[in-house]
Amino acid sequence: MIQFECRLLRGLLGFICLLPMCTSAAPDICVPLKTVRDSLNSTLRRRYMKMNFPINYTIQVHYEEVFRLRNMSRLINTSNEDEPVQPRDLQDLWLFVSQQGIQRVLRVLPERHPTRRKYLSNLENLFRNFETRFLEYNPRDPERELPESIQNIWDRLTDSYNQGWKSVKPKSILDTSYRTMPCLFEECFSKEDGNYDYCKVLNWGKENKTT
Ligand SMILES: *[C@@H]1O[C@H](CO)[C@@H](O)[C@H](O)[C@H]1NC(C)=O
Ligand SMILES: *[C@@H]1O[C@H](CO)[C@@H](O)[C@H](O)[C@H]1NC(C)=O
Ligand SMILES: *[C@@H]1O[C@H](CO)[C@@H](O)[C@H](O)[C@H]1NC(C)=O
Ligand SMILES: *[C@@H]1O[C@H](CO)[C@@H](O)[C@H](O)[C@H]1NC(C)=O
Repeated sequence: MIQFECRLLRGLLGFICLLPMCTSAAPDICVPLKTVRDSLNSTLRRRYMKMNFPINYTIQVHYEEVFRLRNMSRLINTSNEDEPVQPRDLQDLWLFVSQQGIQRVLRVLPERHPTRRKYLSNLENLFRNFETRFLEYNPRDPERELPESIQNIWDRLTDSYNQGWKSVKPKSILDTSYRTMPCLFEECFSKEDGNYDYCKVLNWGKENKTT
């Protein structure tokens, strides 16, 4: 009897957890984050960030606004006991760089361009919603001193005299944002799809668990 109840319960939990609200321990940030992710799916990225632009069209961004998995693993590599890089440091950078990327594209688009009206304006709001929720549930620690490697990136990102520019395709900005997301917010994604692998390069969880 008890066994049956257990099985029933497990079945029920399994079922409930298919619903978007239950896929993680932190549903309050996961729901708005997944809304962002849905808007970054490959169909929409291709339509609005590639097909709506001339072939090989590029825009200018600062070097630091390209924030890939490789960058993250390099930063984690610089992490040490005196100056540990925390997931939160990378999440904050991701949030800033993703939104900055959207701004860079918006800045070159005419008022009535379909990518602006039908896509990026909305995406901008979705990111803002997520950010509000994220900061509400994970307020910044005012005491925290950032590791030098992270602080240097912030200094360059916010330096209005930064002269380092790089040409990138508009779609690649969102591709990067999309690819790094499940890795940085593992608690929202690890149970679901196979996107899990994106994180392999980082070995972030592994290190934490074994030490
Ligand atoms: C992406 O989202 C759009 C709108 O919700 C949907 O029509 C499309 O099928 C989705 N594409 C993929 C690959 O999931
Ligand atoms: C676009 O870029 C690719 C790769 O750099 C190049 O092979 C191709 O000829 C370019 N297409 C146009 C229309 O400029
Ligand atoms: C990521 O790496 C590229 C070069 O591989 C570099 O130009 C860029 O500044 C790095 N981004 C960050 C945020 O460190
Ligand atoms: C991280 O450091 C290790 C050892 O110092 C090195 O072998 C590895 O290539 C580094 N990885 C990156 C992404 O810099």
